[in-house]
Amino acid sequence: MRVLGIVSETHDSGLALVKDGVPELVLEEERFNRIKRTKSFPSLSLSAAFDERGLKLADVDAIALPWNTRRLRQTVAWSLLRRIPASLNLLHARAHPPQRNQIVFLERYIARGLAQHFKVSQSSLPSIFGVGHHDAHAAAFFVSPFDDALVLVMDGYGDDAASSAYLGRGNRLERVWKTGVFNSLGLVYTFVTEHLGFEGFGDEGKVMALAAYGGERFVSVFRDVLREAPDGAYQVNMDYFSYDRYGQIEPVTAKFIAAFGARREMGAPLEDRHRDLAFALQAVVEERILALVRGLLVRFGARNLVLTGGVALNCVANGRVLAEAGIERLWVPPVASDTGAPLGAALWHSHQTLGLPRTTVMTHAYYGSAYVDDAIERALSTANLAFDVMPDAALVGRAARDLADGRVVGWFQGRFEIGPRALGHRSILADPRSIDIRERINRLIKKRETFRPFAPAIPEERAAEFFEISQPDPFMTLAPRVRPDKRHLIAAAVHVDGTGRIQTVSARDNPRYHALLTAFGRLTGVPVLINTSFNEQEPIVAKPEEAIACFLRTEMDVLVIGNCYVSRHERQSGAPLADPAADAYNVHQLKPRSGGQSTRSSALDRKDVRPLKDE
Ligand SMILES: [Fe+2]
Repeated sequence: MRVLGIVSETHDSGLALVKDGVPELVLEEERFNRIKRTKSFPSLSLSAAFDERGLKLADVDAIALPWNTRRLRQTVAWSLLRRIPASLNLLHARAHPPQRNQIVFLERYIARGLAQHFKVSQSSLPSIFGVGHHDAHAAAFFVSPFDDALVLVMDGYGDDAASSAYLGRGNRLERVWKTGVFNSLGLVYTFVTEHLGFEGFGDEGKVMALAAYGGERFVSVFRDVLREAPDGAYQVNMDYFSYDRYGQIEPVTAKFIAAFGARREMGAPLEDRHRDLAFALQAVVEERILALVRGLLVRFGARNLVLTGGVALNCVANGRVLAEAGIERLWVPPVASDTGAPLGAALWHSHQTLGLPRTTVMTHAYYGSAYVDDAIERALSTANLAFDVMPDAALVGRAARDLADGRVVGWFQGRFEIGPRALGHRSILADPRSIDIRERINRLIKKRETFRPFAPAIPEERAAEFFEISQPDPFMTLAPRVRPDKRHLIAAAVHVDGTGRIQTVSARDNPRYHALLTAFGRLTGVPVLINTSFNEQEPIVAKPEEAIACFLRTEMDVLVIGNCYVSRHERQSGAPLADPAADAYNVHQLKPRSGGQSTRSSALDRKDVRPLKDE
């Protein structure tokens, strides 16, 4: 039983293939069409998925969409009617967040798109099922490590709610609580993000980072914005917001502006009041989520918690929930936001609707497309880059030495990771010991805001030495405190509030990345690397060509791509690098350098080099 989960017309178009309840591929269209948060029909993802697997449409048994559009249409109609005449503004196209215009007719768009893509009639498509939006988010439970758990979904809004709680047991989920669509922590966070001059539905993480620089002056007022409600629930005080009547045209009221000041223009200087508003938003959202989880635990008594929906990208709040809410274990999927909605729809249909047993736990996020060695080497040759093909240990050793020498390494390995975080398959890596590296990466490579922290990656078994953390976090979903006695060792990875957006790396799920961290630890005594996404103001790179273009465009020092090693400095200067592992290189292909300079590798006689099998 293969289910295709698919969505378009929203801010995260994409698809997932799930066979007998096991995820095969999860692809976001933005990785292919290179448009951040695209809502285009995911034709390129379909081609990539079906070509890679050698599939035809006949191999798909059912199609699942992460929206129950009939329920959504009822919600929209009821919301409009209750707030007439002001709500008529919501009919204006500009009033809508980027995903809501056509989503009420999603089945039509998907059926038409699939029929065109596969060149068949709509009537010959497999049956299409609309899964409730929060049901799709909650279905992450089916690939969680828990047999039973409380599942809390919080996002902008779904087809009938903004927050929902489920009880999961085995292959069943039951919704036990929900709020109305406008009583939304996600929408409040998004519209305050916009008020602070950032992009809503995308830059919320920047506001979370900015919050650490703020002070408490707005906190008590913000507690009136997000009020406590009975049983730990929360209530958005709509005296401060008008998004329920005017949408994005006018999301906040005069009362909000009187309390927190005028909207900051995008790119304008950040002032204390902006930082203080970010602080208040973050602090009170954390309080409300904590109270909500505690209230739900009192009512339903769970030990395990799954947090999902876009609000679960807030790793600072997640960390507090794990530390303070009274649960034993927390799991947040790598695709908590709508990037995981197609996967969730397919999982819900497989387990909840069809009753298939659960057979898999998602322990890694590497469900994107892979590129074979030939494709990588072709791309390097096309770019006229000299490269060495190296066996695993030599490649890892050389990259670790580069990192220890302060070089910035582009790291491209295997299938790309799903979700918004780079997790060591499409990452830019650097030495965390000196704070200067942050400035260098920001200035020369990432060109991003200086207040944003860099995330530390660490072998899973060493995590507790450096961080106050009680469980693995392979998906960068928590921000635990860095142990005070270790902060000076990883200065560049410590945020101003003393936390780190950690990724724990296991040898089982990511052996080469784990080996790199371990080798760097042997060289330096610090088994931690800074890990930031492999991109420059664009979606994270997917293909080798995009990684190479990013490497050439920026000031990255080294590119490790598959089994190939490329050094910018060597390429530019032609100067040989002292490297004791040189004899181990499998000299695969050599390109003439400009000016006729020879490379160190080219000095090796091909016939003297025993070809080594690529890992
Ligand atoms: Fe969502």
